[in-house]
Amino acid sequence: MLFDINPKMKREDLYDREDELEEIFKALDLDERFITIYGIRRVGKSSLLRVALREANVLHAIIDVKGVYFEHKSVSRIHLYREIANYFTRNLNFFNRLGFKIKDFFGRLKGFHVSEFGVEVEAIPQISFTDLLERINDWCEKRGLRFVLAFDEAQYLRFSGNVRYDGVFAWCTDNLPNITLIVTGSEIGVLREFLRVNDPKAPLFGRYMREIYVKRFTRDQGIDFLIQGFRELGKKVKLEEIEDVIETFDGIVGWLTHYGYNRAVKGMSHKAALEEVFEEGSQLELAELEKLIEPSRNRYLSILKAVAHGATTWSDIKTYVIVKSGYIDDKTFTRLLKNLVKYGYLVKENNRYKIPDPIVKYLVTEKL
Ligand SMILES: Nc1ncnc2c1ncn2[C@@H]1O[C@H](COP(=O)(O)OP(=O)(O)O)[C@@H](O)[C@H]1O
Ligand SMILES: [Mg+2]
Repeated sequence: MLFDINPKMKREDLYDREDELEEIFKALDLDERFITIYGIRRVGKSSLLRVALREANVLHAIIDVKGVYFEHKSVSRIHLYREIANYFTRNLNFFNRLGFKIKDFFGRLKGFHVSEFGVEVEAIPQISFTDLLERINDWCEKRGLRFVLAFDEAQYLRFSGNVRYDGVFAWCTDNLPNITLIVTGSEIGVLREFLRVNDPKAPLFGRYMREIYVKRFTRDQGIDFLIQGFRELGKKVKLEEIEDVIETFDGIVGWLTHYGYNRAVKGMSHKAALEEVFEEGSQLELAELEKLIEPSRNRYLSILKAVAHGATTWSDIKTYVIVKSGYIDDKTFTRLLKNLVKYGYLVKENNRYKIPDPIVKYLVTEKL
């Protein structure tokens, strides 16, 4: 179902993304070792990743790094291992179909074992991340297989304490030919900063990596997506309503999906379905935004409110912020503004700032 609100797993539930899927297949065919997938929140990165890796019939595990962070407030090695184990447990059928012997694989991996419930991890597994990768690589090399390890929302790995994952990634791409790493990030600036791809002194600098950008749907794609979604559920809706939805959510498939679900599955009216997306969506965005603005909450909020209320230039925003939250020096102001861009809450085009996500705008003006 196109309007299923969970990340998609099957190609038939994924609207389009043919080019992006092809790129991933091509990279895997070429045995490439490092792939990054960038795109704003709710544009469909996790769905693309899930569908691509299942369709490619490749051995893989996906670690939801953001999920780990928000559940445990940190990202430790054991949580990452548990994510890998859980991924296998949840997808046993898929791996069975591939003819993949889970027992054989994990039987050789220190710290992991297979029980009747699936794959489990020891309380304190005595195996480093690099060791784990090396063993996986050896196992695959002997069998002529590839293993894809994906870190969804990898920028949250920066909360992993003392393990430097950019170093681990660089080492892995240099030394382990049968492993492909995929990282995704919706906080594009943060992910690039975390990977330090532009820093000549950083481990990943100069490494080849395939970069895939997932973009929001065009107006036509958005309209077609909604029409197909409603058709699939046998529901007729007016074209002007569909156009209204696109005006409101601007090709961000996550919000379109929520709307379609509310309208067609829950049977809400057009207006109620829209309102519900704003309410639920802003709740979904709240925790992440609060986390980011925590260090300087008033000032960050004033900046966001300024832009939400129509200020677009550096100086107009600054004037608003000073009126609302008191004096701020240029350097601090610029730093906070840049952070908001880096985290994707603002975009800067032709020296003008705007909030790219209508739900964030609503959250800022109505809820905070
Ligand atoms: N191409 C697509 N076709 C249909 N639904 C999609 C597509 N991409 C994403 N979705 C839906 O949009 C929502 C957000 O997608 P998700 O993959 O979680 O985005 P992201 O990981 O970029 O935040 C989910 O409800 C998902 O089912
Ligand atoms: Mg995601």
